Amino acid sequence: MPNREGRIITVGVTGASGALLAQAALRILEDDARVTRVHLVVSDAGQRLFATELEVTSGDLKQLPQRVLGRPSTKIETLPNHDVGASIASGSYPVDAMIVIPCSMGTLASIANGTSEDLIARAADVMLKECRKLVLCIRDTPFSRIHLENMLRAQQAGALIMPAIPSFYHQPKTIDDLATQYVCRVLAQIGLPQERMYRWPGQSASKAKQA
Ligand SMILES: Cc1cc2nc3c(=O)[nH]c(=O)nc-3n(C[C@H](O)[C@H](O)[C@H](O)COP(=O)(O)O)c2cc1C
Repeated sequence: MPNREGRIITVGVTGASGALLAQAALRILEDDARVTRVHLVVSDAGQRLFATELEVTSGDLKQLPQRVLGRPSTKIETLPNHDVGASIASGSYPVDAMIVIPCSMGTLASIANGTSEDLIARAADVMLKECRKLVLCIRDTPFSRIHLENMLRAQQAGALIMPAIPSFYHQPKTIDDLATQYVCRVLAQIGLPQERMYRWPGQSASKAKQA
């Protein structure tokens, strides 16, 4: 049941490749009028990936949303990953949904095994115990048996495993096209469908052969 005043979303960013996916998600959430609050938690490795892939350095964590968006933020609040006493660490705090984007194999393991060792893992643990939506945008390749077992474990506990695998049937021209379509699919999963998301119109087999 979404918050009446507007959606509250937690975004975890970890040290898997794909910082631009986090950036795209935060930009769309910032512009989405249905969302009133975004709690952003970035792991140490996630901060490293922001620096490596986007040249966004952390410095003062409070300034991170503005640096990631490239403009001031009105609704994104950064929480330190070591602060397991933050609001989102409790089920009594009304987060509607959480996405971990990108989600490293390390954080997947923590979530799948309920270790709650940092705020991202604890907030995810809370989403599972409260039966709220948790989307894990995992990324690595190839996967080991441990990764695959952790995916299954997390999925069976209620998480949605949504690998950072782009689609191509919308004929993307740029990396931004790829990232935006993927992020739109993720946001649709947490009840925030976006108008810009490409929807497959259907195609007959004979038409596909002519193309
Ligand atoms: C440049 C770079 C790229 C990485 N890419 C991945 C990746 O795609 N998937 C992954 O699971 N780990 C990746 N790692 C390793 C994680 O960052 C590392 O396991 C880290 O401990 C994860 O910590 P976290 O889950 O707290 O963010 C990468 C590390 C670096 C420095």
